[in-house]
Amino acid sequence: MKRTLLLSLTLIAAAAWFSACNQSAKTKEMVKKELIGTHKGKDVFLLTLTNKKGNIIKLTNFGARITWIEVPDRNGNKENVTFGFDTFESMIKGDPYFGSVVGRYANRIAKGKFTLDGVEYSLALNNGPNSLHGGPGGWHSAVWNTEDGGKSKVPTAVFTLKSPDMEEGYPGNMDINVVYTWTDNNEIVIDYTCTTDKKTVLNITNHAYFNLHGAGNGDILDHQMVIKASRFVPVDSTLIPTGELRPVEGTPFDFTTPHTVGERIGENYEQLLLGKGYDHTFVLDNKEEVDATVYEPVSGRLMEVITDQPGVQFYTGNFLNGRMIGHGGKPYNHRTGLCLETGHYPDSPNHPEFPSTLLNPGETFKSQTIYRFSVK
Ligand code: BGC
Repeated sequence: MKRTLLLSLTLIAAAAWFSACNQSAKTKEMVKKELIGTHKGKDVFLLTLTNKKGNIIKLTNFGARITWIEVPDRNGNKENVTFGFDTFESMIKGDPYFGSVVGRYANRIAKGKFTLDGVEYSLALNNGPNSLHGGPGGWHSAVWNTEDGGKSKVPTAVFTLKSPDMEEGYPGNMDINVVYTWTDNNEIVIDYTCTTDKKTVLNITNHAYFNLHGAGNGDILDHQMVIKASRFVPVDSTLIPTGELRPVEGTPFDFTTPHTVGERIGENYEQLLLGKGYDHTFVLDNKEEVDATVYEPVSGRLMEVITDQPGVQFYTGNFLNGRMIGHGGKPYNHRTGLCLETGHYPDSPNHPEFPSTLLNPGETFKSQTIYRFSVK
């Protein structure tokens, strides 16, 4: 009797052990971490995240960037839909922003200047007379720390960074934590958490370029857009907001109903001429769950964007010129990728009428953006 009990207990224990091993093998399979080089004295890794559907995304701690999103079309054919590079060397030398986290201030600050409590701060000018995307040494160019994803049942990548006081001219030591979760529903969930020890400004985003035909497979002019925004942010000739929040109604900026990117992009409308296409922040209505959708009718791929941020920068790759050769040796030509960069409006520190981008010591900035992929 006792021996039977002992045998059963042994069998139960063995089964539990096998299942635990299997579980940890599964966890390992979900996230593969490879060392691909060193940069600025730190190890650079490529993380491959595989969800239960067998779809993969790849990320790297260089710029905390997304470099690969492989999702099926309506016939199940998988293709990478985001811009990136095949090798470590090309990634380091390539476009600074593809797929990266951008900070401390995404988009432009006029003349690289802003004032906090009577103190004027000066930033490096890297975009004509303005400062763009946190300056030349912004977070896109940093080698972030790659943290352990913990016990998460879905594949995750966790990147952290310490941005020192006065880095690129911004006050305050800032701690930044970015968690990418790749759900079984083909959603990239990005969670940002930031704290500071001095009053500062913050506008953090992800700068992925998308082409739902597959990156490098032609232009994005046939992509059908919906952006749930009744107003947008007009800019001057250096792409700095004028301060106006203009109703989209009756303009080529009205994407409250579906329109292709290309339908009105060539119109003789002042804001399209200034932006050389769409390169504007849309003021999100934030009334429904989904804030923007992109549908590509040939493949049937659909991307939905969900954010808690007040705006989204819709950029149609107007400055791409084919000089960047990306995955598979494909050139990224004019308007072959589009960005939906969620965040605050450009130059908010100089526009008190815009939603505030201030972060104070003792406060924790938390924000979430989701890119969800499906077919229809
Ligand atoms: C800006 C564009 C800029 C691009 C760089 C966008 O966020 O609005 O003007 O050329 O980033 O990748």
